[in-house]
Amino acid sequence: MIKRKNIIKIAIDSPAAAGAGTLAKSISKHYNLFYLDTGKIYRYLAFLKLKFPKKFNNNFVKSKIKSLKVKDLSKKILLTDEIGTEASVIAKYKSLRNIVHSFQLNFAYNPPKKYSGSCLDGRDITYNIVPDADFKFYVTANLKTRALRRYKELKGLKKNITYKEVLKSIKKRDKSDLNRKISPLKKTKDSLLINTTNLNKRACFLKIKKIIDRKKLINGNL
Ligand code: C5P
Repeated sequence: MIKRKNIIKIAIDSPAAAGAGTLAKSISKHYNLFYLDTGKIYRYLAFLKLKFPKKFNNNFVKSKIKSLKVKDLSKKILLTDEIGTEASVIAKYKSLRNIVHSFQLNFAYNPPKKYSGSCLDGRDITYNIVPDADFKFYVTANLKTRALRRYKELKGLKKNITYKEVLKSIKKRDKSDLNRKISPLKKTKDSLLINTTNLNKRACFLKIKKIIDRKKLINGNL
């Protein structure tokens, strides 16, 4: 695999709806980083599984990942609760994760030249995908805050769902993501904890920016 030298790599892990995506996007924009929401890959595969249940096997997944375009990951349908739940089911399979792994590596270590580096968020980024990241964050918030944020997000998309249903679904997904044998969600010792429960988007961004700028100042351009 080609690895670009002298790039900044940021790795973020977080439970569902903790605000990691919003944060990662603003950080990526500020530092000109290639951004990948890795959850969207699992959601895309979940969408394909629900659409083509009979065709869904490793070869099918391989061919879909090989031809995967960024625009495939921006489909609005991927944002539904149903797809999120199915994503956490298929994310337990080692063979499927292995296929997704190489796609993510290329994104993280070989971003297009116009970018100064990469920023990936997901569940196993800090210890499995980019273990040598320059910055590692574990972004979280309490369960009710996360459920309320996701509920508002889904309502904004005109989805027919109640707060209670969202809360139940996030609880279930947390349980599955934290306890699965393969690549569970965990906070590594070298990840900085960012609790977004009482922070708005701007405050989260400034908190992380301060950490990054301080280290960049000490280490030069990294
Ligand atoms: O981040 P998001 O909620 O969109 O992720 C959907 C699901 O995909 C998660 O609940 C998790 O099971 C799975 N996932 C994963 N590893 C990642 C990213 C997401 O297992 N790196």
